[in-house]
Amino acid sequence: MTLNYLVSSGGRLQGTLAVPGDKSISHRAVMLGALAEGVTRITGFLEGEDALATMNAFRAMGVEIEGPAEGRVTIRGVGMRGLKAPAQPLDCGNSGTSMRLLSGLLAGQDFDACLTGDSSLSRRPMNRIAVPLRAMGAVLETGPEGRPPVCVRGGQRLTGLRYALPMASAQVKSCVLFAGLYAQGRTCVVEPAPTRDHTERMLEAFGYPVEREGATVCVEGGGRLTATAIEVPADISSAAFFLVAASIAPGSDLTLLNVGVNPTRAGIVEILKAMGADIALTNARRLGGEPVADIRVRYAPLRGIQIPEGLVPLAIDEFPALFIAAANATGETLLTGAEELRVKESDRIQVMAEGLWALGVEAVPTPDGIRIRGGAYTGGEIDSHGDHRIAMSFAVAALRAGGDIRIRDCANVATSFPGFVALANRAGLRVTAQP
Ligand code: S3P
Repeated sequence: MTLNYLVSSGGRLQGTLAVPGDKSISHRAVMLGALAEGVTRITGFLEGEDALATMNAFRAMGVEIEGPAEGRVTIRGVGMRGLKAPAQPLDCGNSGTSMRLLSGLLAGQDFDACLTGDSSLSRRPMNRIAVPLRAMGAVLETGPEGRPPVCVRGGQRLTGLRYALPMASAQVKSCVLFAGLYAQGRTCVVEPAPTRDHTERMLEAFGYPVEREGATVCVEGGGRLTATAIEVPADISSAAFFLVAASIAPGSDLTLLNVGVNPTRAGIVEILKAMGADIALTNARRLGGEPVADIRVRYAPLRGIQIPEGLVPLAIDEFPALFIAAANATGETLLTGAEELRVKESDRIQVMAEGLWALGVEAVPTPDGIRIRGGAYTGGEIDSHGDHRIAMSFAVAALRAGGDIRIRDCANVATSFPGFVALANRAGLRVTAQP
């Protein structure tokens, strides 16, 4: 089904908003809940297509799951060895997290299973997980050039591995740690830079010991998971669109409730503040093992910056939105060290550059980043290439565009942000979804 957005120019954001649950945490809650002993109850679960793909995969492997109903999910865990062979390939849809994390878990099972995905996921690299999994003794095949589908042969004996990640990727880290739960001995992952640590925190919440020292995280194979209650905070990656929107639209004053502000995810707040944004965290607290806060953001003039490379993995999903902030800043914003953006749901450097050009924004893509000069821009036609975050970013851009923005191919917004159009309109954007 095709879905396009027509976004009228202008507007400002006001009020109090709760964006949907965190996608990364929702995936992990289902995975560990399914493998735990006992009943896990989740609240705030993201009812987006990506997390639902993970849920359906576990149902297909014999796990009883109730919900989701208004964010509530109940999982009757089957224990580490309780999964059953699925009758069909497991469809991960658009979700790289589902495919990469499930591959790690499947490597330790005693049955065979294949993982497939949509046209976007089918173009994404899987050798990054196949290489370390094979080094642990897993047997798996990918499609040509290391692309999906991924087929994992069960019944292998895995051995612990010490793996230095070649790229800053939480998905690869999590995949290796998940295989490590089934391996003989210790499995350690060494990160080149900190990446989101939800897997480590959630393993601990399920009572599984995790050793962390500096850039190294280790698990010992053969342990057990104990069911627990998980409250999923609002997704900072979804909040990101509103942080940028309120920052660029004069007269805005918006509060986002209950947002996950784990330091391995909160790079956007630091980057926007460095650009001059007026952002304040209040009511800081902990929800499960995760830090959470309300975030108040008010309009403030932004200036271009050179984005520190250390912040890149901590804001990796927020760059499409940050590029819109850069287009509205005075002077130039320079991003480097972000080649991973080229292998997301789309090539986010190229697709964003083309969208910015369509609005008359000066942008120069480079192999590992982009240079953007802020200034006035027009309305225009954007092709999101089916990438949810590109679509939502250009909806935000309309706040300051000289004319309306039409965005093609927006159906995948439902992968991470169900209800985006209604929530955006409530906050002060003017978006119409059209066939
Ligand atoms: C994710 C990790 C990141 C991120 C993705 C979710 C996760 O991917 O882009 O949206 O939940 O572990 P990489 O690990 O490929 O950087």
